[in-house]
Amino acid sequence: MKVGIIGCGKIAQVRHIPEYCGNGHAEIAGYYDFNMERAKGLAGQFGGKAYGSVEELLADGGIDAVSVCVSNHAHAEITIKALRAGKHVLCEKPMAVTLADCIEMAEEARKAGKLLMIGQNQRFAKAHVRAKQLIQEGAIGDVITFKTNFGHGGPETWSIDPGANSWFFDKEKAVMGAMADLGIHKTDLIQYLLGSRIVETTAKVVTLDKRDASGSLIGVDDNAICIYQMENGVLGTMTASWTYYGAEDNSTVLYGKEGIMKLYDDPDYSITILTKDGDRILYDIDKIQTNDNQTKSGIIDEFVEAAMEGRSSAVDGSDVLNAMRAVFASIESSEKGVTVKVTGGAA
Ligand SMILES: NC(=O)c1ccc[n+]([C@@H]2O[C@H](COP(=O)([O-])OP(=O)(O)OC[C@H]3O[C@@H](n4cnc5c(N)ncnc54)[C@H](O)[C@@H]3O)[C@@H](O)[C@H]2O)c1
Repeated sequence: MKVGIIGCGKIAQVRHIPEYCGNGHAEIAGYYDFNMERAKGLAGQFGGKAYGSVEELLADGGIDAVSVCVSNHAHAEITIKALRAGKHVLCEKPMAVTLADCIEMAEEARKAGKLLMIGQNQRFAKAHVRAKQLIQEGAIGDVITFKTNFGHGGPETWSIDPGANSWFFDKEKAVMGAMADLGIHKTDLIQYLLGSRIVETTAKVVTLDKRDASGSLIGVDDNAICIYQMENGVLGTMTASWTYYGAEDNSTVLYGKEGIMKLYDDPDYSITILTKDGDRILYDIDKIQTNDNQTKSGIIDEFVEAAMEGRSSAVDGSDVLNAMRAVFASIESSEKGVTVKVTGGAA
């Protein structure tokens, strides 16, 4: 499968490109970035061609699929153009910056008969996959409540163009902050783990501390705290933060009738189960990926395999749409100071 990389920044360089290179069925054929030197540099290093525009890359009939790794506001436009050009698309999260765009993306994929996958890599983390099985097997009994967290010190040291004026803080380019950057991962994950969707949210999505180079608070949220009501009756909190200075928290804790399950909470054991009877069961499955510890995500292999087999994926656009509905509903809840119902199923 011949692939084009659109947006040649950090996530393209640390995840998409190495994982395509490591997949025996994929070959990177083209690159496009606003920063032409960046695209040319990668073409020189990994092979393939640097294109002068998105349209030029998409017009190349030899390219079967693209990774969309640009800043958030351009996800929808480029994804829709790529689907209309007959390409399979792996679009990075957050899927898009408006619900209408997310719905249109999912509809375009269906019309085009092409695969649209969203970069929800947390679903492929080994301990999350194992935890879902364990929950289904009743390892902690019926889940009653949960807390799921994703926080670190912020994206300004991560971006290929780092600094306090990062696009991640720009209302025009990022549109949303920690909620859509990190919160979407855990919002999507909790629905996956529990096999149930979020039907109601009560949230605060706020900017508390993070400042741009001029010293002003950034234009997007740096913290989000949401209470999620799941369709199956489970209740829990989802926290996303760019102000956990000093250490990353990527943990989820599920409280069931028979015990407690902790995921990526202990640095040595990716799953810990504490039973009601006092037993402590430890699983050393893997270490969570962090900004500083980029292990193979598995999402590229899934994309290549699903596209080649002509099948859908668990993280296809219509599935991730419901997590995006919860993100937009949480922002609305915070703005209006009310609980908001998360309505609508898949597109
Ligand atoms: N799945 C994950 O865990 C994960 C992790 C990090 C980033 N991301 C997502 O990946 C996307 C890219 O983030 P990043 O960390 O690579 O950012 P980055 O700042 O490192 O790189 C962005 C790149 O895109 C280019 N670009 C921006 N808009 C463009 C456009 N319209 N056309 C062409 N090029 C464009 C920039 O020039 C830059 O090279 C974001 O949406 C981000 O949320 C996902």
